[in-house]
Amino acid sequence: MALIALGVTGGIGAYKAVEIARGLQKNGHDVVAIMTRSAEKFVGPLTFEAITRRQVITDQFLAGANSDIEHIAIASSIDLLLVAPATANTLGKFANGLADDFLSSLYTATRAPVMIAPAMNTNMFDHPAVARNLDVLVARGVHVVDPGSGYLACGWIGKGRLAEPEDVVAAAERLLRGRSTSLAGRQVLITAGPTFEDIDPVRFVGNRSSGRMGYALAADALRRGAAVTLVSGPTQLTAPHGATVVKVRSAADMHLAVMERAAGQDAIIMSAAVADYTPAQPAGQKVKKDDGPVTLTLTRTKDILGELGRMPSRAQKVPVLVGFAAETNDVVDYAKSKLVQKGADMIVANDVSRSDAGFDVDANAVWLVTAGGVEAIPLQAKSAVAAKILDRLEHFLIAAPAKDAKVRA
Ligand code: CTP
Repeated sequence: MALIALGVTGGIGAYKAVEIARGLQKNGHDVVAIMTRSAEKFVGPLTFEAITRRQVITDQFLAGANSDIEHIAIASSIDLLLVAPATANTLGKFANGLADDFLSSLYTATRAPVMIAPAMNTNMFDHPAVARNLDVLVARGVHVVDPGSGYLACGWIGKGRLAEPEDVVAAAERLLRGRSTSLAGRQVLITAGPTFEDIDPVRFVGNRSSGRMGYALAADALRRGAAVTLVSGPTQLTAPHGATVVKVRSAADMHLAVMERAAGQDAIIMSAAVADYTPAQPAGQKVKKDDGPVTLTLTRTKDILGELGRMPSRAQKVPVLVGFAAETNDVVDYAKSKLVQKGADMIVANDVSRSDAGFDVDANAVWLVTAGGVEAIPLQAKSAVAAKILDRLEHFLIAAPAKDAKVRA
């Protein structure tokens, strides 16, 4: 089975990490526990040692520990680095590449998949700095087991409690099983983010897409071994390591970037919120205001997904096409008609009238609409929604031969 490094950091949830170690052990895995200095204030290393039957690593500079540069040795031999609980401090260190103790050094040194289960006070979890660090980590391909909601040890009620040990163990199992390179040899193009349509050199028409859904899809497709091209509109996000990134600004740029590359793809996922209209005559110089109202004439942009749906190869359902539909009402009905109109294989429909899902937040609730039916995916992290979308996509791909036998190392 697998060798798992279990990082335990200083939160009250550290006691639950004992159960996580036991659960992994029961499933036949070898666990090496790594505790930060603050974790030791909550649980003693002996507890983990008794369960894992291995020496617990508590100090990077313990005599002997560096004789074989242990964090490098462990980094190259583990199959998974799982950190539970992961405090705000640890997230910050991982996101920013600080390596001032064994665990953070291990994170920067390992190429094994990384899974974190954050746990902290609700306000800390919601703080923009923590949210940003999480976004950075997700974009980098780190898997997140979302914290639960409820009564917190600090007396507050809200989101921030470490996920239940059995859920963390199950997520780790799924990840370890998913090591299979299910999309190896496949070329997947993903569009993400908004497009900006310039009115003049300083103003534009845009939309509220953050790009998170598309970046999460790219990270997950890479993890499955696909060669990923990420055609991204303007976003604040860091592209996942390994993706070929094509940065675009307008719908016209995105159209060109996608069409130039479409023929070589096994699948194209249009998660970008492409502008439907663009200023008819963008001004070359800044437009000066006067007292009266202003009228902006907009013309339709090219429908990229619609055009892809009419490619000659689509008669054989190649490439597999996935579109998105952001609606505020009659979500599934609109998605069903979009599936037909655009000639897509799947439409991922989301209700953007919800404040807890969709734009600007890290979670989404969607419906996967295909000719075969409608599957509701309840509210969960965008990384988890991305995995569901790609699971579905793989069904369509099974029937289609790979466009290019190139397999990513
Ligand atoms: N899309 C596209 N090219 C465009 C506009 C949208 O490829 N010029 C893609 C989006 O990436 C998304 C899907 O088409 O996958 C959304 O469909 P669209 O017809 O644009 O729907 P909305 O604009 O969201 O809705 P409506 O039809 O109500 O305007």
